[in-house]
Amino acid sequence: MSSDEDVAAVSRHSYFIGKKENIIQARRVVKSVGERDVLVIYHKGDFYAIDVRCYHSGGPLQEGDIEKDFDGRTCLVCPWHKYKITLAEGEGLYQAVNPSVKPLKPTRCSKGIKQRVHTVTVSNKDVFLTLNDSPGPIDSDYYQTEKYRNTFLKEGQKKTK
Ligand code: FES
Repeated sequence: MSSDEDVAAVSRHSYFIGKKENIIQARRVVKSVGERDVLVIYHKGDFYAIDVRCYHSGGPLQEGDIEKDFDGRTCLVCPWHKYKITLAEGEGLYQAVNPSVKPLKPTRCSKGIKQRVHTVTVSNKDVFLTLNDSPGPIDSDYYQTEKYRNTFLKEGQKKTK
């Protein structure tokens, strides 16, 4: 991962993240943007930005695998408990089986939006991030709060999985 370029605000909610070629080369960068820690990912020609700590229990999504799953949607798999989160929408996905329907067949289901995602734009070889400030709490917001940063992160991330 790379973090050699400083984040600079270019407007109230838009921030310069880095040079396109550098982010493509790094594939993943974690940036402190405004009051948030955001993971920016380059994957198969597209850029994504998502809160870096998992909505379930704060797992480090920058270490998660990327899988194309659930009807071709690209998911980030949290390294702690393997929750799947769509990169584009921040939707939490799971598989369920209805025991009354034979033969048993797993069905793909959504928990709805659980992880806050942000908008990435590229202009003149520079990459910018616009924070998603949509109202209403999204589960991952808790892991961006000052309370979480002060209690867990300042203890050296001793939090157990
Ligand atoms: Fe991410 Fe549990 S912390 S799945």
